[in-house]
Amino acid sequence: MNAIILIGMMGSGKTSVGKRLAQRLAFKHIDTDHIIEETQGLSIARIFDAHGESKFRELEENVVDKISKLSNVVVSTGGGIILNPVNTLRLKEMGTVIYLKGSIAQLEQNLKEASDTRPLLKTHALAVILQVRAALYEHAAHFCIEIDGLTIDEIATEILKIQGL
Ligand code: S3P
Repeated sequence: MNAIILIGMMGSGKTSVGKRLAQRLAFKHIDTDHIIEETQGLSIARIFDAHGESKFRELEENVVDKISKLSNVVVSTGGGIILNPVNTLRLKEMGTVIYLKGSIAQLEQNLKEASDTRPLLKTHALAVILQVRAALYEHAAHFCIEIDGLTIDEIATEILKIQGL
């Protein structure tokens, strides 16, 4: 088992940190949202629009199943991945799960002008989404990093330290 999985809210930097970490480890970078978009030929926003959130969650579970046997990978997940306990279990068995934990102020700052690509933000406040999920992130993670005020590189360095690297 040689995989690092990043979980956390929209705007916590999972994709940027995942890419940087993969470079530094010479691992492959995988992004679950990106795989869904590629295989469906549609953006996440279009999938939500055309097929609804429940279809998206189904696709998300299929992707987690497919990637869960890979190693030497860094996985950036969609923020809602932990809503499904099957995903949580698979990811926890796959490798080290790291929760990138940010304050609402920091997440909002990172998400400026990104609501178009995050369909849930059109209908739900970030704080309410976090309230519902906070315990799920904590439960799903082996380790947690407080990301407020840290750069992408600093977060990647914290993760490498956790890995003893
Ligand atoms: C979602 C987060 C998004 C994407 C989808 C749903 C969520 O990914 O999977 O819009 O439920 O929090 P990011 O966390 O990469 O923005």
